[in-house]
Amino acid sequence: MKTIGVIGAGTMGTGVAHSFALQKYNVILVDISKEILNQAKKNINRAMRFYKYIEKTEIKEPQEVTMGRIQFTEDYQSLADCDLIIENVTENWHVKKEVYKKIDQICKEECIFGVNTSAISITKVGALTHRPDRVIGMHFMNPVPLKKMVEVIKGYHTSQETIITIRELMGDIDKECIVVNDSPGFITNRAMMIFINEAICSLHEQVATAEEIDTLFKTCFGHKMGPLETADLIGIDTILYSLETLYKSYNDPKYRPNILLKKMVDANLLGMKNGKGFYNYV
Ligand code: NAI
Repeated sequence: MKTIGVIGAGTMGTGVAHSFALQKYNVILVDISKEILNQAKKNINRAMRFYKYIEKTEIKEPQEVTMGRIQFTEDYQSLADCDLIIENVTENWHVKKEVYKKIDQICKEECIFGVNTSAISITKVGALTHRPDRVIGMHFMNPVPLKKMVEVIKGYHTSQETIITIRELMGDIDKECIVVNDSPGFITNRAMMIFINEAICSLHEQVATAEEIDTLFKTCFGHKMGPLETADLIGIDTILYSLETLYKSYNDPKYRPNILLKKMVDANLLGMKNGKGFYNYV
């Protein structure tokens, strides 16, 4: 694989583009506007400097050389010759659906589609395309350049060949993977979304403050981050959309999103990505 198409230049897409460029892959990063792409470029540059500073990634070349491997564009046609697309658009079924219909027409037949989603069924995404055997879940962890593990999800029709190719590729960019069968939320988010939602319920019922809730998780259970800090890192909108998908998919009230999440999204309190969530980042 030489050229990787990355769709969506938000929290995850920028991290995915960054990780591949570091390992000398050419990346075409697509989003819907120049403003978003300019911001993405700034974010990747800043992340590269920061990770180098904290010595978490070795950049053995000038940063502009690594950055030079990433092409920033709004043009989907430029994805035509990619060997792999990793899609990281907003966690919304309607948005993702339009993207897959489009790339299925544009991309060459052998191109694999990697779906980065928190809760959406990979089988359902595969069914939107004429290549369900080459559609696979690639649930990267945030922040992507620092997190080693990728939860790889086998859709109903995902072929063994596709799984082997993705396993090898992940090894090549210094990541490990665990392959799981398709199920909304997979393994990680099926459990994590519940404890984040329960922490939000406790905050909403004024059982404790955000700081107290997070401190309890960190000190009692040794978590690096508390559930509300994690929600801010992931994005409050992504948490809400994921819980809504899980609620619908399993038809189970245990996934019903707390009303506070809805209010925060309506109030544009989206967490770290726009500066304010349960905590303030500006
Ligand atoms: P985000 O909200 O930070 O970024 C989404 C990006 O998609 C935005 O830049 C938006 O402009 C772009 N976009 C929307 N429609 C588009 C279209 N039609 N074509 C191209 N770009 C489009 O979201 P984030 O957090 O990066 O999430 C992306 C995906 O990764 C979601 O499915 C999410 O569930 C999943 N994910 C998120 C994690 C997290 O910690 N934030 C962790 C693992 C997976």
